Amino acid sequence: MRKRIIAGNWKMYKMMDEAKSFVAEVKGRLPETELVEAVICPPSLFLAELVNQSEGTSLKIGAQTMHDAAEGAYTGEVSPNMLADLNVQYVILGHSERRQYFNETDESVNRKVLAAFANGLTPIVCVGESLEEREGGKTVERVALQVNKAFEGVSADQAKEAIIAYEPIWAIGTGKTATAEDANDVCKEIRHEIGKLYDKNTASAIRIQYGGSVKPANIGELLSMEHIDGALVGGASLEADSFVKMIEVAT
Ligand code: G3P
Repeated sequence: MRKRIIAGNWKMYKMMDEAKSFVAEVKGRLPETELVEAVICPPSLFLAELVNQSEGTSLKIGAQTMHDAAEGAYTGEVSPNMLADLNVQYVILGHSERRQYFNETDESVNRKVLAAFANGLTPIVCVGESLEEREGGKTVERVALQVNKAFEGVSADQAKEAIIAYEPIWAIGTGKTATAEDANDVCKEIRHEIGKLYDKNTASAIRIQYGGSVKPANIGELLSMEHIDGALVGGASLEADSFVKMIEVAT
């Protein structure tokens, strides 16, 4: 059975004090369970503090992006080994906002996925189609291509540990959620693609999240679907109450 994973992507929100209060509140309220992983991905400035603060609890901390090089003249960037050195465990890669505003491509996402594994980080690889692609019937083609590119050079053992987040771009921050059935259909196709790339075992081991306007009110239905193993949550992960509620629903 795949362990569910609910990850909060805070994007560029919160001040340090707010981030610390969130963790202080949430860490005491998370249900004791082996069935669900709870992850918060704060802005990189807060990573060290939140990793320390959540030590010894079940709350895990992830980054929202990283460079693929170990070091170098890359002003403003953070390297995979810097994250690993801080005991960060997850890293979101290829989020559509990174692809749209920071020129990330399928190729650069692939380099980052390889660098994440090389440094012992678990990548949360984001894929998803635009509204135009959905309306043009291109969803599966687009998502399959993103998956194929992202996993180039990744071994089956590594792929089994990876997380894929299916986030239809038109559902991000819009209040529009894909129906649970539609989301499940695409997650099924993603699993099928992983099966073609690797094998059946890898396909059934890899965890696939849905992301896009997930909140306490709709997470239960999404998680009831066969191929949806968790959620990557933006807005609704910013409030401790709603984050804890989503973990409780997932448990
Ligand atoms: O990565 C999470 C995300 O892009 C979804 O954001 O605010 O629609 O939950 P939101």
